[in-house]
Amino acid sequence: MRSITVPPTAGLPLQLGDLWPFGAGNFAQQLATWLGIEAVQLECSGTSALMVALRSLKSLKPGRSEIIAPAYTCPLVALAIAQCGLQLRLCDLRADALDMDPACLQRLCCEQTLAVLPTHLCGRVADVDMALHCARAVGAYVIEDAAQALGARNDGESLGLKGDLGFFSLAVGKGLSTFEGGVLIAREPAMRAALSATGEGVRFSPWWELRRSVELLGYAMLYQPSGLHMAYGKPLEQALSRGDWVEAAGDDFDDGIPQHRLGCWRQRVGAKALPRLAAFQQQTDEQARARVAQLQACGLEVVQDIAPHAQGVWPVILLRMPSQQARDTVLRAHWADGSGLSLPFVHVLPDYGRYDHVLASARHDDVSQARDWAQRLLAISNSPWLDDARFVKLLSVLEGALQQG
Ligand SMILES: Cc1ncc(COP(=O)(O)O)c(C=O)c1O
Repeated sequence: MRSITVPPTAGLPLQLGDLWPFGAGNFAQQLATWLGIEAVQLECSGTSALMVALRSLKSLKPGRSEIIAPAYTCPLVALAIAQCGLQLRLCDLRADALDMDPACLQRLCCEQTLAVLPTHLCGRVADVDMALHCARAVGAYVIEDAAQALGARNDGESLGLKGDLGFFSLAVGKGLSTFEGGVLIAREPAMRAALSATGEGVRFSPWWELRRSVELLGYAMLYQPSGLHMAYGKPLEQALSRGDWVEAAGDDFDDGIPQHRLGCWRQRVGAKALPRLAAFQQQTDEQARARVAQLQACGLEVVQDIAPHAQGVWPVILLRMPSQQARDTVLRAHWADGSGLSLPFVHVLPDYGRYDHVLASARHDDVSQARDWAQRLLAISNSPWLDDARFVKLLSVLEGALQQG
């Protein structure tokens, strides 16, 4: 019998009852209560949420045009910035932590800077205070990119509230999913009003909603042990057999970012699933803690929250391997076997080539430290479907790679 194909991240599985549209509460209100904030604004994707944020900030400070993001991030961020007519600047990473390098960020911040994007990658909490310090010195905004970190907290409150605004993704495989979806939050009522005014311009699209609803139905059916091979295993095998790591990691995006409203039925599905999210995240948190301890006991370097007093979430456990060779050897041998290994992103943004047209002069920003991270990072799924027996096998593979350097 084939063992379960482990999905690359720990997503909350949907239940049949979630699909029944009656008896669901107001998703936006429930989500706001769950996050401990006054209100949230729903969008059709994290990228679309970022675009609403960027357009709002642009209307508040029309003379500014540059957005500073970490060089190792989701390519959708670069596409969104370009689609809003803004210019990306790439910040290198710290050598000792998966976060923007303060000296580099300080150098990049200038009178042209509209916003800085501290990014809570893979659920790990970034240092927003440092980003705020650099941004405020030049009068720029801070947008917390918490696409991969719904439910994570810093100093006791949800991410997205230290900065001027923040956004979460509800895409496939995220903690909570409406197949595609995004959530915008802001502490200040004036900023919420600006976001809401921009959001008003986003129209409902029957075609997109129908498509996403069918995709959500498919996701609900396949994000179960018997469907995971079809949903994840087969496409992964095919991409890897072509040697296409960019496609295997899901980093191949089209230029045009669709923007439309998040439809009613999908909101209701989210509202029905949300009450199970806290227990699911507690389960994945406990699993991650135990496994992080095992990995560290073997001498492996696990990426931790950067901010002090932070409580990240654990869609994956991120490792920094001793070398690119050690990382790639493990991936070549085990990426396709369904045991839950993956890459957060394959490259730093300038190294894809296919995104050069949206990077413009950012292609020449110094990203050498970020490139080193990109070459050595390895993600282990924290899905509960990766059982202890398979995790222990993975552990011995990783230990072997560590010994070989
Ligand atoms: C760091 C980061 N920012 C933004 C996004 C965009 O979110 P979405 O896929 O919901 O459009 C993602 C997607 O995973 C991401 O990882």
